[in-house]
Amino acid sequence: MSSFLEVRGLVVRYGGIEAVKGIDLDIHRGELVTLIGANGAGKTSTLNALAGLLKPAEGQIRFEGELLTSTPIHQLIQRGLALVPEGRGVFPRLTVEENLSMGAYTRKDKAGIRTDLDQIFHSFPRLFERKHQKAGTLSGGEQQMLAIGRALMGKPKLLLLDEPSMGLAPLMVQTIFSVIRRVASEGMTVFLVEQNARLALQAAQRAYVMEGGVIRFNASAEECLNDPRVRSAYLGEES
Ligand SMILES: Nc1ncnc2c1ncn2[C@@H]1O[C@H](COP(=O)(O)OP(=O)(O)OP(=O)(O)O)[C@@H](O)[C@H]1O
Ligand SMILES: [Mg+2]
Repeated sequence: MSSFLEVRGLVVRYGGIEAVKGIDLDIHRGELVTLIGANGAGKTSTLNALAGLLKPAEGQIRFEGELLTSTPIHQLIQRGLALVPEGRGVFPRLTVEENLSMGAYTRKDKAGIRTDLDQIFHSFPRLFERKHQKAGTLSGGEQQMLAIGRALMGKPKLLLLDEPSMGLAPLMVQTIFSVIRRVASEGMTVFLVEQNARLALQAAQRAYVMEGGVIRFNASAEECLNDPRVRSAYLGEES
């Protein structure tokens, strides 16, 4: 049986630099999987290749059994892949509410869209209070919430998140992680790239550890939390 998302021999190059050196990943339907690793390990390059933002130099990506390599981005979104990129990318001149509506542009189920919008406003009361405010005037953390909310409005099958906790105050990190856990528990498949390895491992079922463009190992999140290599390199503990 092929997995929900199956990556084989993925290579990403920038000119002469090989950022991702032939990695394999398997993500099963309904899982919350995290990819952790130091700065420059190749996490964003991996995620951007999965989301169709950059073309892999080599390798195959299969989503629900179909080959994605060279599928245009709008088709990836229609097929159910959504990326919340590093550094957010909301539409600054549109209001909060307009940004969220844009996220649902592939959907036709008006009632479902309404319910999901209410759910997002319920999860992120800050966004509700600011629904008529232009997104460009939101704080960094609020923009991050909006970017996640917008991705959720598309009801993706696979949500790709690049460092959702970056630069956020602890309380906002908690809010964002509780939303990630909730959507995962409701059945959405989530692939989460995080620098905050402890938080990511506490939320995820499984983890891949990336170093220098390769996957060093993968294991259950619980095993990773107890692994001396992970503890010393990523959880800031003495080995
Ligand atoms: N557009 C680019 N041009 C050239 N090199 C790049 C480009 N983007 C990334 N790289 C290089 O590829 C390597 C992997 O970068 P990437 O952004 O994927 O790492 P990362 O694991 O996401 O790091 P971080 O935790 O800092 O976000 C780095 O050495 C980086 O300098
Ligand atoms: Mg990155």
